[in-house]
Amino acid sequence: MRILVLAATGNVGSQLVPHLRAAGHSVRAGTRNPASADFPPDVQVVRAELSEPETLLDCLDDIDAVFLLWPLHTGAQLPNALDLITEHARRIVFLGTGGISDLSFEDQEKLVHGCGIESVVLRPSTFAVNTLWWADEIRTGDIVHGIHGELPMCLIHETDIAAVAARVLTENAHAGVTYTLTGPELLTQAEQVRVIGEVLGRPLRWAELTSAQARQRLLDDATFPDSFVDVLLDGYTEMLAAPRPEITTTVADITGRPARSLAEWVTDHLADFY
Ligand SMILES: NC(=O)c1ccc[n+]([C@@H]2O[C@H](COP(=O)([O-])OP(=O)(O)OC[C@H]3O[C@@H](n4cnc5c(N)ncnc54)[C@H](OP(=O)(O)O)[C@@H]3O)[C@@H](O)[C@H]2O)c1
Repeated sequence: MRILVLAATGNVGSQLVPHLRAAGHSVRAGTRNPASADFPPDVQVVRAELSEPETLLDCLDDIDAVFLLWPLHTGAQLPNALDLITEHARRIVFLGTGGISDLSFEDQEKLVHGCGIESVVLRPSTFAVNTLWWADEIRTGDIVHGIHGELPMCLIHETDIAAVAARVLTENAHAGVTYTLTGPELLTQAEQVRVIGEVLGRPLRWAELTSAQARQRLLDDATFPDSFVDVLLDGYTEMLAAPRPEITTTVADITGRPARSLAEWVTDHLADFY
């Protein structure tokens, strides 16, 4: 198949491209900066700026299926992007996001499943890659400061999301389905820090901040977008009030391989912690 992967340089997209190539598909990779993207020569790299959906037109020529996610801070043009994609492709796989104000996950799901072509929506749990927010502290000390150390999450490895995406992009059995994807274990944030320490071979511990302290630290962090600080903190409050997340077996059901643990994720990202 000829497959367009949008946001192809990101955590999920950069794992999805090799999965699709390995399965023998022809891959076109969308990025805002084709000149700086690093893909093998057989991957056609195209410019796609999702906040300007008309840039998708040139990317969609002769494409069978599209992988779409909506990066944070991309604006509200998802319906326009979907209109263009459905004019050209016969299948879309969409990764849901909590990051579009005024468009809840359920709204996104309705839009995608109602778009008129074969559609699959992926609803992933919290990404394990978010623990990289702690990497600076872990590189320089043994204490991770944060808020809601008791908050449980089923962290998912981006490779597992990509492996599922590769299957549902290329198999016929998934049209109209929304898949909830999680990692294999429920760990509080404090437990996540402990697991990272176990893989690194040194004890790490969690130190709880007040919400005012947490907010200030995020605002002081130049790598963390100010506009996302309250989104994150409000999201934590919602997660605390919600029922404990349920572990699903969807990754194993679709890919035939169990979802990767946090310890496996840390092992795959060791260099980020040194
Ligand atoms: N983190 C979580 O816990 C979590 C949980 C559930 C869902 N999600 C959702 O997953 C998505 C993030 O996936 P990810 O981690 O793979 O993404 P990512 O690594 O944050 O970014 C993906 C890529 O998007 C591209 N990009 C950014 N803005 C763009 C724009 N305006 N137009 C076109 N491309 C743009 C960037 O590539 P270039 O610079 O090369 O263009 C970037 O590499 C978000 O929608 C998020 O809400 C995340």
